[in-house]
Amino acid sequence: MSSRLFSKPLPTVSRSLALARRPPRHVVLARAESTINTAVAAKARVLKTLPEFSMANKVCMVTGAARGLGNEFCRAFIQSGCTNLAILDLKEEEAAEAAQELVKASCVDSDMEPGDYNVIGIGCDVSSELSVQQAFRRVMDTYGRIDSVVASAGIVENYSAFDYPFDRIKRLYDINVHGAFFTAREAARNMIPQGGGSITLVASMSANIVNIPQPQTPYNAAKAAVKHMAASLAVEWAKKGVRVNCLSPGYMLTKLTKTILAHDQELKKTWESLTPMGRMGDPEDLAGAVVFLSSDASRFMTGSEIRVDGGYCII
Ligand SMILES: NC(=O)c1ccc[n+]([C@@H]2O[C@H](COP(=O)([O-])OP(=O)(O)OC[C@H]3O[C@@H](n4cnc5c(N)ncnc54)[C@H](O)[C@@H]3O)[C@@H](O)[C@H]2O)c1
Repeated sequence: MSSRLFSKPLPTVSRSLALARRPPRHVVLARAESTINTAVAAKARVLKTLPEFSMANKVCMVTGAARGLGNEFCRAFIQSGCTNLAILDLKEEEAAEAAQELVKASCVDSDMEPGDYNVIGIGCDVSSELSVQQAFRRVMDTYGRIDSVVASAGIVENYSAFDYPFDRIKRLYDINVHGAFFTAREAARNMIPQGGGSITLVASMSANIVNIPQPQTPYNAAKAAVKHMAASLAVEWAKKGVRVNCLSPGYMLTKLTKTILAHDQELKKTWESLTPMGRMGDPEDLAGAVVFLSSDASRFMTGSEIRVDGGYCII
């Protein structure tokens, strides 16, 4: 800076004149506040989140997504910029209704319009390999590619080992284990030719611990299978660009757990007392983890598990 600027004589104004011209204190404060707000707003415009977390330009699919955690994963994807999404659930009309609701909700307080989204609902029973294959065909016909798949469809039942009817055990494995396998296999079949993608299998903290007091041996064993399935598939497809990870929630408040709690009011208190954070999780508590696993933010991560359980497994 030129020294001439400093040597320039300042205009001489008498103190009383200067004070007379000064605006009242509240105006000065209001102006200062507005200057700060403008500065903050200007800064907010340039603040960005890590671009790798963006789901923009990714085609996503979530199974068991008409409600519960699966539905929340869809919401998280849309909030992170995804506009192409397939919602799969047992009944096509429920999946389609969920798709409509999601688009409607996404346009509230947003510059986006319904036409900016291509969200579809597809009827699919994940325990049937044919049904899963047909759903993937529809997704590929609609979008031409598939980037991130989350296998969330699952059930839980509480029977003691001696009382558990075998047909029900088989059904649980068909949905929770074989359903996750069919979903992952079909995802990889479509992802490999396009250069890769991300698959997230929803396991559970029950893959790592034994829940008490409710008996649920087949569920726990099924979730342990899902966790090791993710690791095994990750190794098979690692060099082909397909990553497979698993997300293991603790006790979350969804229809699945509400059904159990409806018969036993005390159980919620027991679960909360066993959770270091002292509460059950809200489905939204999983949003960050599912976006991380499904986005490029986790690009060097495969065969891993993220537990989101309020600390349940550490004690
Ligand atoms: N809620 C929890 O506390 C919790 C904890 C750990 C793990 N999980 C796991 O998270 C996943 C989702 O659980 P949730 O709490 O959202 O359950 P939920 O019952 O609220 O929702 C499950 C969804 O899956 C669908 N579904 C069931 N069988 C299906 C099938 N054969 N094909 C396609 N869709 C099917 C249901 O219609 C429903 O929409 C499950 O795999 C569950 O084991 C849940």
